[in-house]
Amino acid sequence: MLESVMKISLRSGRRPVAGLPGKMKVVGVVSGGLTEAGRELDQAYSGILSKALKASKFRGDEGTALTLVADETFLVLLGLGQKRGVRADRVRQAGARVARKALELGVREVAVENFFADRLGKEAASYALAEGLYLGSYRFDRYKSDARPVRVRYWIAKGRGRAVEEAERMAAATAYARDLANEPPNVLTPEALAEEAVKLAEQAGFEVQVLGPKEIEALGMGAFLAVARGSENPPRLIHLTYRPEEKPRRRVALVGKGLCYDAGGYSLKPTEGMLHMKADMAGAAAVLGTFKALAEFRPAVEVHGVVAAAENKISGRAYVVGEVVRTMSGKTVEVANTDAEGRLTLADALYYAGREAPDAILSIATLTGSSVVALGRKIAALFATEERLAEALREAGGAEGEKLWPMPLEPSYEPLLKSEVADLKNVGTREGGAIQAALFLKQFVRDPFVHLDIAGPAFQREAWELGPAGATGFGVRTLTRWVRSL
Ligand code: BES
Ligand code: ZN
Ligand code: ZN
Repeated sequence: MLESVMKISLRSGRRPVAGLPGKMKVVGVVSGGLTEAGRELDQAYSGILSKALKASKFRGDEGTALTLVADETFLVLLGLGQKRGVRADRVRQAGARVARKALELGVREVAVENFFADRLGKEAASYALAEGLYLGSYRFDRYKSDARPVRVRYWIAKGRGRAVEEAERMAAATAYARDLANEPPNVLTPEALAEEAVKLAEQAGFEVQVLGPKEIEALGMGAFLAVARGSENPPRLIHLTYRPEEKPRRRVALVGKGLCYDAGGYSLKPTEGMLHMKADMAGAAAVLGTFKALAEFRPAVEVHGVVAAAENKISGRAYVVGEVVRTMSGKTVEVANTDAEGRLTLADALYYAGREAPDAILSIATLTGSSVVALGRKIAALFATEERLAEALREAGGAEGEKLWPMPLEPSYEPLLKSEVADLKNVGTREGGAIQAALFLKQFVRDPFVHLDIAGPAFQREAWELGPAGATGFGVRTLTRWVRSL
């Protein structure tokens, strides 16, 4: 894997915006007026900010900005909208807008007001702003021949150092997951993904086990192997373990869907459907990204990360519709659609993870188009066997600006997955597809189980609030926060 050319660093400064370095200084406009930091900057620049506000129709609506130039410095009035209903989300997104502006203007050092610190507290405000600045600066340009190394430094005025540091680690782990999911499929094969996991484990001192086709077969993972069979690139089962130094409060397993490419197999996808299927390992990327964060935060929780990495392709050996496969659990599955491959690989990965007898088992997967139809591209579907587990994840997600919406593990839909010839089939009916996929996974784990279908939010076709088009790293921050909260 190539190195990223973008290096981002975040600092908190004791001084006000005007006193910090940077050829770009950013203050907010709230409810149409300058903030306290804005008035300070206004004074330092002999009132040109207030004059500009008066002379223009600029009202500081969210998403807008007014840029002035004075003494070779860009003075940016960033629209922050109204005073009412301030949440960390808005600060995070404002941070990302600052980052976009800085890249646009080609500025390498920027001083920013600690937006809404009076409302959210310095700590929470710095944290959200720092995350936004970092994530908004993210670019995937390692394959652009004309990309030049870029270093950007952001100063958060009157920020909190600890919060900024934590946010930087969290955002860096998110960027790492984005990188993995943005890597093209000819580079990031199952082998390459496993090598990446080994590298991460070596750097952080995690245990790691990587199994190849023979060992996977010896474990009896017939469903996983069936999916992998069509590709020349052999599968890998990746098992990372983080053990805290102290006695763990809890033990959990995180299982990520790791389809390095999903062409659909013989139930072939149309071209448009294949376009972004390099990111069908975004669940795996979220798990690896979470481990990257665990390396930094080192919570007193034992965490297992399991990824069944494979490619779903076509060849003379590829699995076909009608096949019956035997999973590691012993349950047999009739393949009704080769494009419902994620749940087959996860069936074996989840069962394998369950052997660790964790206190909770979580899967994260770009599993169904159905979840995208239901919730769109900003919200993940959340399935949980226990209310408390669902709540804990929603809270973690909410704090990190990652939205999860609860969906039911409706027991009366289970018969839809009955097969004439095997214990189960991998696809039922079209209606309620995301629910049926979750119910399928549930057959291979013991409670408590929680499943996130991130097919929508894992990847954006266009630039969005927290970054450019492409992989979003969705899940890293939610999972990390959740694990730390256990
Ligand atoms: N990887 C896809 C799901 C997906 C769709 C992810 C869109 C991201 C964006 C998954 O393997 C798949 O193909 N699912 C099928 C299941 C169907 C055959 C029951 C789907 O959703 O169409
Ligand atoms: Zn598929
Ligand atoms: Zn898939």
